[in-house]
Amino acid sequence: MTTAAEGAELTRVGPGTVMGELMRRYWIPAAMSSELKADGAPLRLMLLGEKLIAFRDSAGRVGVMDHRCPHRCASLFLGRNEENGLRCIYHGWKFDVAGNCVDMPSVPPPDFKQKVKAKAYHAVERAGVVWVHMGEKAEAPPFPEIEAALLPESELTVIFGQRSCNYLQAMEGDIDTSHFGFLHGGHVDASELAEDNLLRYTVQNRAPEYYVADSEWGTTYAAYRPADDGQTYWRFANFLMPFWTQTPQGEFPYQVDIRAWVPMDDTHTMFVHLSWNGRKRAIGTVKKDGSALSGFGFGHRYLPNTTDWYGRWRLRDNEANDWGIDRAAQHANTIYSGIDNIHMQDQAVTESMGAITDHTLEHLAPSDRMVARTRRRLLQAARALRDRGTLPPGIEHPEVFYGSRGGFFFTQPRTDWRELYAEQLRVAVRPAEKKQAAG
Ligand code: FES
Ligand SMILES: [Fe+2]
Repeated sequence: MTTAAEGAELTRVGPGTVMGELMRRYWIPAAMSSELKADGAPLRLMLLGEKLIAFRDSAGRVGVMDHRCPHRCASLFLGRNEENGLRCIYHGWKFDVAGNCVDMPSVPPPDFKQKVKAKAYHAVERAGVVWVHMGEKAEAPPFPEIEAALLPESELTVIFGQRSCNYLQAMEGDIDTSHFGFLHGGHVDASELAEDNLLRYTVQNRAPEYYVADSEWGTTYAAYRPADDGQTYWRFANFLMPFWTQTPQGEFPYQVDIRAWVPMDDTHTMFVHLSWNGRKRAIGTVKKDGSALSGFGFGHRYLPNTTDWYGRWRLRDNEANDWGIDRAAQHANTIYSGIDNIHMQDQAVTESMGAITDHTLEHLAPSDRMVARTRRRLLQAARALRDRGTLPPGIEHPEVFYGSRGGFFFTQPRTDWRELYAEQLRVAVRPAEKKQAAG
């Protein structure tokens, strides 16, 4: 049960909020590197409720700062990106990527440019993504050793997608194992599937049992179902502080994959997905007769990006068109939800809850233990930081993230699920070397 007060603490991310301050301790994936061209137009970037601009200077460095010019607050979005700095079009003051005022041509000498600073944040590029640290510069932690984020862009598929709701309800879709057999697979009949299609186990047993526990990086669950020949089918998933998930949709040894639910503000979220190109997708989307399973489309259908604060990576289907729901397909049960495409199905249900879920209306069930535990973990970490200055997981020890992986595997029945996980991780493929990358 989440109270109204806890719901507010969990979902508000602006400056000075308990969760906002927690998130400002971490590196945040904010934009694709390809969105910024040297000397190109600045990008409007909404992050944790702050209106920022990002730009790439002539030398290729990235700057991220408050969009308001420190002179008289004209938006630097309108600025001229020229010769290693962004020049405000109002009175010509110019700022470098660190926010230093490097030119003040509207003021007769002696000017005071060395005394003026734009509010700039620390930014780095890794894995084809621009990452921002929105806290005090001196507090920027080392880069998190999330395995997929340590890989070069050339080995990754990077996807962004905007969602019109709070980050928490969006993220919780990824750690809610019992929805898969309904929202995504409710229309699938096990007898239609080939012997080796793993979806068979999901649709034969739509109420999986699972273990859940806190882990060094956040929380972990392990769902288990009986498989053939006395084996057990395990599906592991993680929540990583403060807004990351790893889902079980891939073969564990190859599943180098990470998903972020980055709060743009309290009611808009940017999904950022980094996925190793060597991973092996789990779900066989073909029936045994060779025809495609309906409803299992992948990929995003985007609207064109605009320069609006909320103009980036919007999906075509949204509340205004009922997320493209096809009532005939729903009625005939060719697609359980009536909505094609797995990501759109998740998008529809989480956006349909409203901009910020009213948590007092929920009835959490035993199948929601992972959701409840993750909320508690987030709240405890955020309150410990606020009340005692305790640094949250992964800040002092960014290497803890390297131990987290989602995915599925089979074993003979065994009792200690954490031991099984450790064994599987020991023999897993590790394309990114563990390292202390400089922040
Ligand atoms: S408001 Fe930017 S230079 Fe005056
Ligand atoms: Fe889902």
